[in-house]
Amino acid sequence: MCGIVAVLGKENAPDAVLKGLMNLEYRGYDSWGIGTAGAENIAIEKAIGKISEAKLSDNFPKASIAIGHTRWATHGGVTPENAHPHFDEKHNVAVVQNGIIENFIELRSELRSRGHFFSSDTDTEVLAHLMEEFLDEGSDLLEAAKKTTTRCEGRYAFVAIRHGENKIVAVRRGSPLILGIGKDAFFLASDTPAFLEHTQTIRYIDDNEVIEILPGSAKVYDFFTGNEIVKRDIVLELKPEESNKGTHAHYMIKEIYEQKETISKAIDQNPEEIEIIADAIRNAHGTFLIGCGTAHKVAAAGEYFFATIAKMHVNSVVASEFPIFHDFLKPNSLVIVISQSGETADVIEAIEAARAAGSKVLSIVNSAGSTVARLSDFSLQIKAGPEKAVASTKAATSQLSILLLLAYACAGDIHAGQQMLVDSAALVNDLLNPRFTQFVAGIAEKIYDQENIFIIGKGANYPMANEAAIKIQEVSYIHAEGFAGGELKHGPIAMIEPGTPCVVLVCDDETRRKEILSSAMEIKARGGRIIGIAPMDSEVFDDWIRVPAAKNFSPIINLIPIQILSYYLALERGFDPDKPRNLAKSVTVK
Ligand code: M6R
Repeated sequence: MCGIVAVLGKENAPDAVLKGLMNLEYRGYDSWGIGTAGAENIAIEKAIGKISEAKLSDNFPKASIAIGHTRWATHGGVTPENAHPHFDEKHNVAVVQNGIIENFIELRSELRSRGHFFSSDTDTEVLAHLMEEFLDEGSDLLEAAKKTTTRCEGRYAFVAIRHGENKIVAVRRGSPLILGIGKDAFFLASDTPAFLEHTQTIRYIDDNEVIEILPGSAKVYDFFTGNEIVKRDIVLELKPEESNKGTHAHYMIKEIYEQKETISKAIDQNPEEIEIIADAIRNAHGTFLIGCGTAHKVAAAGEYFFATIAKMHVNSVVASEFPIFHDFLKPNSLVIVISQSGETADVIEAIEAARAAGSKVLSIVNSAGSTVARLSDFSLQIKAGPEKAVASTKAATSQLSILLLLAYACAGDIHAGQQMLVDSAALVNDLLNPRFTQFVAGIAEKIYDQENIFIIGKGANYPMANEAAIKIQEVSYIHAEGFAGGELKHGPIAMIEPGTPCVVLVCDDETRRKEILSSAMEIKARGGRIIGIAPMDSEVFDDWIRVPAAKNFSPIINLIPIQILSYYLALERGFDPDKPRNLAKSVTVK
């Protein structure tokens, strides 16, 4: 949800910022902008369109200081005026921001009443104007940033520069910022891919910290006390190939294929730690499984895993709806948070509520250094490597695998769980091959021009049907909806017309299999086209996507053809599956 990059100390900092922004494209890609501070003025270049297609003009200054931003519009349309950086009245200061200044309307009218003129519709512009006022009163850049922060409500991070100063200042209040320590340069970014080619040595900036970067020094201060905070250097060990597409046409298909290995990596957890966490789950009174989007569908499947395998009741809740349940958080409650990015605003709010109530937090994330991981009492990393496609694929199957492992551990049978998951990882490895992919692509070719696709499932395949709907919607823009098979005759069956595709997720359990197949019959009787994802053929299927029988792993394996189908539906319809319209990878705003 917007990417920030700032560089001080590189020979051509604007160019380094541009490349960094390209690597953060997954955070937003509707417009971009770069600014640099000269002795007399600030030079800015901004444009609408994808950052991957951006180019700086030849005469843009090749200074050693620059800030930049790739935008996912929240306040104000996609226009060059609304692209960041934003200026103050006198063009002394330039600011980029990620997040939302919630009281910006009040601040803007207050500033207007004092004669400020605004040139954009964004919330961010108030930051530049407030900074201008504090600078005019005699504050230095750092002090002005701090005073500005005291006026702003919401979750955000911003970075500012001023002409005539070789200095970058920044504030973190709810949106991620990471400091990269290069040989002769410092980097500041919303995520590490922005500067990995220059350095893998980083320092995580926490909420309520301010940063001042000068040539040769990058200092972090506590916002409230003003005391300097000495941060630990962390050296990442990321392989550059993990961050690019390799031989694949898109990140989405690359990441789908990476599931050949990611499930094994996810389940490679320390058994003692899993047992400790299982104890915490068993001893908790009130366990909530929280996530957004795909991560919520994972949480919902987790509810079924715990019910069927561990015979335990946990409550899955969409993170943005969790405030309704805050009153039920007690010191002995447990909140299990699922998040690929570990930076999702609604999820962070859930953790804050849990901490305020004294409840424990377990997170299942892809990044050990993420805000979610660092705010948790226990954190399990899925170790899936960077997931860059907006559509979550490998992260989801890894999170699901860990939840299965935890359910087995809670049932006192961690070894059986491990063995089942090791076997299932091998099944996924076999399944993902070009012949299978092409077969599923052939089905996409038959149905890509349909207006609606329905997906049905039972048991843990029901949340997977909902996940299938998200996958299809977000990359192909076809209206897709998931249902519990038994719900059809209570309403949705009215939508079935001759030829309407309905994907049936069939499970390994015989009773449920019979039930879901009879739901499929009811659809077929109304003319629906039945696409079965199942280990065995059935007369009800018009198309059969064969997957291996996988016991409790079957809802997870059923997702793989869905991911491939979604990918090819997007291609058939001429869309870029890596950059769905209106979406961004990391949703750091509420
Ligand atoms: O980073 P998170 O897992 O917290 O993200 C949650 C959702 O925004 C995410 O799963 C989203 O729904 C995906 N685009 C779905 O593919």
